This record gives sequence, C-alpha cells and structure tokens, in this order.
Amino acid sequence: MEQSKCLTVKREPFGKVLDGISIELFTLSNSNGITVKITNYGGIITSIITPDTTGRAGDIVLGFDSIEDYLKPHPYFGCIVGRYANRIAEGKFKVEGQEYSLAKNNGPNHLHGGIVGFDKVVWEVKEVTESDNEASLKLAYLSKDGEEGYPGNLSVTVSYSLTNDNQLIITYDASTDKTTPINLTNHSYFNLSAGQAKNCLDHVIKLNADKYVEVNDQYIPTGNLVDVASTPMDFTNPHPIGEFLDKVPGGYDHTYVIKKEGTKEKMAYVAWVHEPLTNRIMEVYSTQPGAQFYIGNFLDGTLIGKNDIVYNKHYGFCLETHHFPDSPNQPSFPSAWLHPGEKFNEITIYKFSTKSY
Ligand code: GLA
Repeated sequence: MEQSKCLTVKREPFGKVLDGISIELFTLSNSNGITVKITNYGGIITSIITPDTTGRAGDIVLGFDSIEDYLKPHPYFGCIVGRYANRIAEGKFKVEGQEYSLAKNNGPNHLHGGIVGFDKVVWEVKEVTESDNEASLKLAYLSKDGEEGYPGNLSVTVSYSLTNDNQLIITYDASTDKTTPINLTNHSYFNLSAGQAKNCLDHVIKLNADKYVEVNDQYIPTGNLVDVASTPMDFTNPHPIGEFLDKVPGGYDHTYVIKKEGTKEKMAYVAWVHEPLTNRIMEVYSTQPGAQFYIGNFLDGTLIGKNDIVYNKHYGFCLETHHFPDSPNQPSFPSAWLHPGEKFNEITIYKFSTKSY
C-alpha cells in the first residue's frame, strides 16, 4: 500500500490576469501546521500561516485574498523581484563597451526591474513535488533580450520548498546568452503578530551586519560602506525596530552588508526576529551578500489587505536578501554580473519557530 506523503501541495485556480491567462494558487503544507501559499503570477507569496507559541495559527505576511487586488498598484507584496532588485542609478550601465538604458520607474532611477518586472509576469509552473522531506513548487520565466532594456535572454527558475523543520527555502537559478546584471529577491512584508500588533515597530530584530550601504537622498549608493557601531543603524544586538527610529530620517530602507565567517562559506545567517505578543520567531539565512531592511515607510493606510487589515505606515517589514543596489555602476561592490556559460544560484531560507520559556 502506498504511504501518504507527509508534506503536501494543493493546487487550485486563482483567476485570470489582464490578458486572460489563467493562473493558479499553490498551498504548501507541512505536518507542523505551517502553510505557504504562492501564485504563479509574479511568484507572489500570498500567505504564510504559522502557529504562535500557544498553537494558534495566524498569517504573518501582508497581501490580498484575490488576484484582482494584486493586479492593482501595490508595493511589491510577496513577489519575486527582478531582473535587478532595488535601484540602478539613472537606469544606466555600461558593459563590454556598450551602454544600456533601462526603464526609469522611480524618479530618474530604475527600481525593481522596471515597469513590468518579474513581479508582474506569469511564471510557468515547472514542477510540483510532494514527499516525506518537502513540499515544493518550481517556477520558470524567460526574460527576453531587451526586456525593460536589459541585455540577453535570461532563463530563470525560482523554487519554493517547505520542510518539516519549518524552513521555507527559496532557490534562484539563472543563465543568460549575453552579459547582464542580475539581482533576484523576494519582497515579502512580515508582521509576525498575525494581526495582533498595529505595526512592526515592537518586533525585536538582530541583523548579522557590521556595515550598511550608504545612500544619497534618492536611495542611490554613494559607494561607501558605513559602520553601524554607535549609530541607530546598529542591530548587532537585538532590540525593537522602533527604538531609535526617530533618529533615522525616512525610516529604515537600507542594504545591510551580511557578515560571512569565511570567504568559502556562502550561506550565512542574516537575521533573527522575535514578535513579543505571539512569541513567533523568524530566522533568515542567505547566500546573498546583502539584505534590504525596509519597514514599510511608504505604506500609508490606503491599502486594505487580507482579514480587512489596514496597511498603515510601518505595518510590515521586509528583509530582501540581495546584491547591493546599483552594483553595475559600483565596481567595488560584489559583482552582480552574469556572463554566458555561468550559472547564477542564490538561496534564502526563512525558518519559523516560537520562543519557549
Ligand atoms: C524596496 C525599496 C523601497 C521601496 C520598496 C517598495 O524595499 O528599497 O524604497 O521602493 O521596495 O515600496
């Protein structure tokens, strides 16, 4: 008799996008009560339900119930961001003697892949896996040469895998036929209280970073990496997000430089977050060199999400693991170039637990 698999993937229709293409919603479930919902429109994580310290289940990411809401303007809730996450100054870069101009969609600069980035395309469903070890979904997208101004046909896959030790592992792979900049991330906004706290400012966070990427008033890097020590940017010791917020003009929206123990060790610990009302904990690990710590400074109460929650300023925080912004124009930053014949591979892990006393 065939044994039932302990981790499952439920697959259901999730409506149609503007050009009439049907999309789907996938629910990954493990045996500890964690479920992760993902749609192949933008690879959006629409929901992550985890138990709190008393066993009560709640949704810890911002988002909507229906595809119609995701088709309206929103600030990248839960989606895959690419071809280049974060900003490229003036939407320009030069490679192999040729200058490229990208779509400018953030004042004079390029942000999150342009006007139609990877967050607004339908991804092909490549593989759905249910086994004793994981429930997973693999999505694929071919970004054509010239899309949003980028060089080369870029073939991308993104896999989401939920395990029984409560990890959500996101794996990004890509290859190209022309040298291109690449920077892929997931833009989930978290509020680990699952509706209990009115914003994310009491969440206690620790970031494994001694430095952050200094930016100008347009959030474009100056090229300097600045020490966090003795500044309100310092999260090397855990403390509430809001504690020194009044000393950070505009609020946290900065790339932290993740400390790596050795040059050979690619996967590093990024962050530890504790929500005091429900005692949920989230840990983040990644192979990527940076993490954008953004605390929803631009949320303004105009969007109403799942469970009728009004997304006011600072309602959720993001830890967008990625390369540094504007790396194509900053030769001292870790390279974000992908050349033909190379294999791009980055992994980020979100691990969910609760605090026990
Ligand atoms: C990123 C950027 C922010 C903002 C959000 C989306 O985190 O760094 O400045 O653009 O995305 O609103």
